[in-house]
Amino acid sequence: MIKKVLVGDEKYKVLIGKNKIFKDYLSSAVSKNNKIFIITDKNIPTAYIELIKKSIPSNKVIDLLKIKPGEESKSFTNFQMILNKLAKKKYDRSDCIVAIGGGVVGDLSGFVAASFMRGIDYIQIPTSLLAQVDSSVGGKTAINIESGKNLVGAFKNPKLVLISSALLKSLPEREFKSGIAEIIKYGLIHNKKIFNIFDKQHQQILKRNQRVIEELIHESVKTKAKIVTEDERELGIRAILNFGHTYGHAIEAINNYKNILHGEAVAMGMRMASKMSMLEGHLNEKAYKKIINVFDALNFPKNTSNNYSDLKKFILSDKKVKGGNINLILLKGIGLSFQTQKFNFENFKKSFS
Ligand SMILES: NC(=O)c1ccc[n+]([C@@H]2O[C@H](COP(=O)([O-])OP(=O)(O)OC[C@H]3O[C@@H](n4cnc5c(N)ncnc54)[C@H](O)[C@@H]3O)[C@@H](O)[C@H]2O)c1
Repeated sequence: MIKKVLVGDEKYKVLIGKNKIFKDYLSSAVSKNNKIFIITDKNIPTAYIELIKKSIPSNKVIDLLKIKPGEESKSFTNFQMILNKLAKKKYDRSDCIVAIGGGVVGDLSGFVAASFMRGIDYIQIPTSLLAQVDSSVGGKTAINIESGKNLVGAFKNPKLVLISSALLKSLPEREFKSGIAEIIKYGLIHNKKIFNIFDKQHQQILKRNQRVIEELIHESVKTKAKIVTEDERELGIRAILNFGHTYGHAIEAINNYKNILHGEAVAMGMRMASKMSMLEGHLNEKAYKKIINVFDALNFPKNTSNNYSDLKKFILSDKKVKGGNINLILLKGIGLSFQTQKFNFENFKKSFS
């Protein structure tokens, strides 16, 4: 059964199902477009691309671009290269970009779609778990520049997001776990039902049971949709999506963004932010232990090598630190989060150990 979530003021659809979703929905979604420019990366199995192409009506012109996998591809060079290709192939506002890939392909394609001729249609077909539950929903697009990650971009809602849990079959284990970390985040900040699924069914999750994973994707998309619809321009409640990220970004930075995935760092950060919530007296010890048990049951690594003084420099240079004030997202309970700048600094230091 196809599950539908509507997002933002424009109420664009995110549809969740299996591969049949392409045949049923892609064809009509592009019916008014003339040309279709598919952007994907070289790790995405050719069989997926062929399957999706088959769902595009045969009277459409299709172009296909495969970029190099990895964060470096969210570059100004690729951005410009794609814009030039679109111009040379005489694309215009009647045409559509289809992004098939993880967050890298999605963010880059979305920014191209926002910029080319001041905005053309685009459809997201996310293939990583992180992209299915996070980056494809919410309309943020970006590329990286020398001075930092995601510093240049635009808010641009896709015309449609099509999620097939079947596309996750080829996703490497560490990438899968990285997406799982973001799903736990939704459980902790806003959706206790998600947390309870982790609490009771972690074995099924590790085995990638498709029914359970699909339910988690649906619950996550609903949660993210609710938060971003309330705060499309990131001026308020959307900040809770950064739970664990102040710590996580610092851990990624001290590792030079190498050998550690974003989700792994955020999982470490969420343990620390949960500890901080307990030390500050917002979260009771029983709930804290329950949270830690879930991370342990899913074999998430602990941060055993960096304390506050190692990470200080990176914590203070985080873009969420304004006027020297650290914004923390803390928990009052499982599924209940809030933002604060008021906390005991000694507790903050202790939360790293
Ligand atoms: N726009 C947003 O709101 C938002 C939110 C969170 C993250 N992001 C961005 O998303 C990016 C991270 O996304 P990601 O984790 O998907 O990274 P990614 O796009 O690099 O994908 C991770 C890896 O998995 C591979 N892959 C993806 N799907 C696959 C599949 N089905 N089979 C085999 N391999 C597959 C990719 O080729 C890549 O090597 C970052 O650039 C981050 O800044 C954006």
